[in-house]
Amino acid sequence: MPAKLLKGAEVAKEIRAELKKEVESLKEKHGVVPGLVTILVGENPASQSYVRAKQKTAHELGFHSVQDNQPADLSEDKLLALIDKYNKDPQIDGILVQLPLPKGVNENKILLAIDPSKDVDAFHPVNVGKLMIGEPDYLPCTPAGIQELLIRSGTEVSGAEVAVVGRSNIVGKPIAVMLMQKGPGANATVTVCHTRTKDVKFHTKRADIVIAAAGVTEYVKGDMIKPGAVVIDVGVNEVGKTADGKRILKGDVAFDEAVEVASAITPVPGGVGPMTITMLMKNTVRGCKLHHNIKD
Ligand code: GUN
Repeated sequence: MPAKLLKGAEVAKEIRAELKKEVESLKEKHGVVPGLVTILVGENPASQSYVRAKQKTAHELGFHSVQDNQPADLSEDKLLALIDKYNKDPQIDGILVQLPLPKGVNENKILLAIDPSKDVDAFHPVNVGKLMIGEPDYLPCTPAGIQELLIRSGTEVSGAEVAVVGRSNIVGKPIAVMLMQKGPGANATVTVCHTRTKDVKFHTKRADIVIAAAGVTEYVKGDMIKPGAVVIDVGVNEVGKTADGKRILKGDVAFDEAVEVASAITPVPGGVGPMTITMLMKNTVRGCKLHHNIKD
């Protein structure tokens, strides 16, 4: 029997409905509106598409949302000054600088300039450190989306063997930390595979949950998966364009093979992607509550 599809797009819709109610209640009871600014430097088409989707969702949820587009040749100093402006803006609870930044801009320096209390991506070292010790203010969006999807789909994570393929700062490392912590949707035994791992298949084949975040199209084949495993595909690889110019996307998992072996699998698109955006919205609502000292 083919695997059940873990449709992040549907789960994300549910969470957005919950968030919309929360935003209404924040307005009514406290007179505050969550504010999100997305800063896009340059004209990378994939980044433009992600940022548009983030802004659209923020708008739908009733946020104060600002899209700040800047030219590719914006100097590092000007970008730092822009971040400083939003750090000081009381209407802004979340600042997102879309990555990658143009060559010549030091990404780490930029991320360090964001006020950690407005760092809704959770990329600032303060937030990375808080996550590491199990006391996060914000969870990084893609890992948070994966964990929420596992929880809401009823996947048993506690005690599970998890193989994460990929060790990026955005996905691989933080999801490994989150799933091994104590707490709901966690308590797993996690193995992280990367480009120097001798035998990736050895690790994925014994995992109850495989998280593919390698950035390589269809890297995880069907024969690398244990029958009945849950497969989360984080890959977003553009493999071409349709006749009307839309991007054709494939994941890091060979879906047609894996769907015959796994018990559940996320599709690409419509799996992890929509969850990531929704978690950004959740973080912005959290930021608003933190800034106005509003308890849950
Ligand atoms: N580029 C790709 N993914 C992300 C993300 O989650 N946040 C930001 N800021 N940039 C990205």
